[in-house]
Amino acid sequence: MALLTLAVAAWSFAHAKSEEQVNRARFAADGSVTRPIEWRQWVHVGSRYKPIGLNILDQKLTKTPEILNAYVEPSAMAVYQETGQWPEGSQIVKEFTAVQVGPGCDSKTFVCSTRFGDGIYESRYIGLGYMVKDSARFPEQPGHWGYFSFGHQPEPYLPTAQPTTTCISCHVTLASDTDYVISKAHLGLNRSTR
Ligand code: HEC
Repeated sequence: MALLTLAVAAWSFAHAKSEEQVNRARFAADGSVTRPIEWRQWVHVGSRYKPIGLNILDQKLTKTPEILNAYVEPSAMAVYQETGQWPEGSQIVKEFTAVQVGPGCDSKTFVCSTRFGDGIYESRYIGLGYMVKDSARFPEQPGHWGYFSFGHQPEPYLPTAQPTTTCISCHVTLASDTDYVISKAHLGLNRSTR
């Protein structure tokens, strides 16, 4: 029994400690969030090639296919890997890039022949979406996730963003069993592949 109590205490301590250590997003008094910095140094959990279609940030038709790169803030990722749960404060980014088009590139497949070899190449950054788990700020939202867009545009992105509710429905439809993070679409979040 003493051993069990000790084990539970040790678990709670480790758990609380890691939750406490999760880095937090920066919010202003008006409820807007500041764009994170250095998200490209976060944990890259996967990419998706999306053919020409509507972009979720502005609901407008894209000019080229886009590549969607997802990054998780490392301290949140550490807890997720340990527990399979997204801790309070988790931050996840989805950055969009436009693919290369023009001379040397096939206009249907977007495969370009370059001196580096044939391939579909990213040409520039073109948008940034962001999710933050915060139960105090988003008590009513599924999973307490807040969603933000820093624009579907070339850099520089918007420096701050107000929460938007246009994102919620897809995440609810597609991922109510995985805390509204569409983890099954990202190789790096599929815990069974560890
Ligand atoms: C049309 C449905 C749809 C809408 C609307 C939508 N998303 Fe997603 N979102 C997805 C899908 C599917 C994925 C997983 C595959 C991928 O990365 O595209 C995803 C993944 C993400 C991820 C990576 C973490 C995860 O849950 O997989 C972030 C961050 C994200 N979306 C933010 C947003 C933001 C911010 C908005 C609103 C501006 C938004 N999403 C609106 C479908 C949607």
